[in-house]
Amino acid sequence: MERLVFGRPFYHLSTFSLIWGMAAVVLCTAQEEVVTQDEKQLLNTPATLKCSLQSSQEVLVVTWQKKKAVSPENMVTFSKNHGVVVQPAYKDKLNITQLGLQNSTITFWNTTLEDEGCYMCLFNTFGSGKISGTSCLTLYVQPIVSLHYKFFEDHLNITCSATARPAPVISWKVAGSGIENSTESLSHPNGTTSVTSVLHVKDPKTQVGKEVICQVLHLGKVMDFRQTMNKGFWFSVPLLLSIVSLVILLILISILLYWKRHRNQDRGESSQGKMNQAN
Ligand SMILES: *[C@@H]1O[C@H](CO)[C@@H](O)[C@H](O)[C@H]1NC(C)=O
Ligand SMILES: *[C@@H]1O[C@H](CO)[C@@H](O)[C@H](O)[C@H]1NC(C)=O
Ligand SMILES: *[C@@H]1O[C@H](CO)[C@@H](O)[C@H](O)[C@H]1NC(C)=O
Ligand SMILES: *[C@@H]1O[C@H](CO)[C@@H](O)[C@H](O)[C@H]1NC(C)=O
Ligand SMILES: *[C@@H]1O[C@H](CO)[C@@H](O)[C@H](O)[C@H]1NC(C)=O
Ligand SMILES: *[C@@H]1O[C@H](CO)[C@@H](O)[C@H](O)[C@H]1NC(C)=O
Repeated sequence: MERLVFGRPFYHLSTFSLIWGMAAVVLCTAQEEVVTQDEKQLLNTPATLKCSLQSSQEVLVVTWQKKKAVSPENMVTFSKNHGVVVQPAYKDKLNITQLGLQNSTITFWNTTLEDEGCYMCLFNTFGSGKISGTSCLTLYVQPIVSLHYKFFEDHLNITCSATARPAPVISWKVAGSGIENSTESLSHPNGTTSVTSVLHVKDPKTQVGKEVICQVLHLGKVMDFRQTMNKGFWFSVPLLLSIVSLVILLILISILLYWKRHRNQDRGESSQGKMNQAN
């Protein structure tokens, strides 16, 4: 970079450009020539990255590149002469949305997993060579959490599952002893990871009526999910059977009563009819 910085001023050899070149070196060492900001964005939504050149050099071209393992890939350029030129591979994906030679913004119309990574903006200046900044894009997915429990003959299992990007972390808040937990995680092709933690309670009676909290940690935020352990008596077979038989009994009694009243009414009507005929 310093070679480039000195390149042009030395050809001109005027004191003015010499001072200019030296100033550029000072700014270069300060490493604050381009202000950028890393961005966290929801996956499958638009995202923008900004670069702002602090010094007022004459910029010829602004280039945005994607950092890749081997070498950076050109995405889009902006210059006064040629306007915006988007590389074919990025045509429908993004554009420069702030057209400036000092400030430049690119917008991804709808981020996909491949867009996560770091990007460089290069300000190709007259006299100071290329001045660059780097901005990294992180794409996240908010957690979807489920918390449920099930009583068994001799144990109780409480399961908390969270799917998010990046992978969430699950922890428990529970009182009592004889409790173990095991956690598994599974990565999905859509970039999310499901983390499932099972709390295994050896003596289920100790937890009846108690509250359990599943804590999900994601991007520095902690979310609490609460669940009170109710023994599932609504689904116990004896109770269900007695309710069903009670309902059947009530229906039978109603039918019987209705039928009896109807018959009495019939009798009343026919005797009345005879009386009318007699009159
Ligand atoms: C972005 O892409 C996703 C997945 O392809 C799609 O479901 C969503 O509707 C798109 N959003 C916008 C704003 O285009
Ligand atoms: C990008 O933006 C420029 C300037 O606003 C516009 O002229 C051009 O058509 C856009 N290109 C694409 C591929 O959207
Ligand atoms: C660049 O942006 C900064 C703040 O974001 C603003 O103060 C400055 O005037 C802008 N420069 C140009 C040339 O648009
Ligand atoms: C309850 O959890 C334990 C420990 O994770 C597991 O070994 C057991 O199979 C689970 N019980 C049922 C019925 O799923
Ligand atoms: C769950 O397991 C981890 C590691 O085995 C342990 O540190 C933690 O205390 C356990 N949590 C509960 C609530 O038992
Ligand atoms: C990702 O895939 C998993 C498993 O197929 C699914 O449960 C989850 O809802 C998906 N998430 C998104 C944001 O598409």
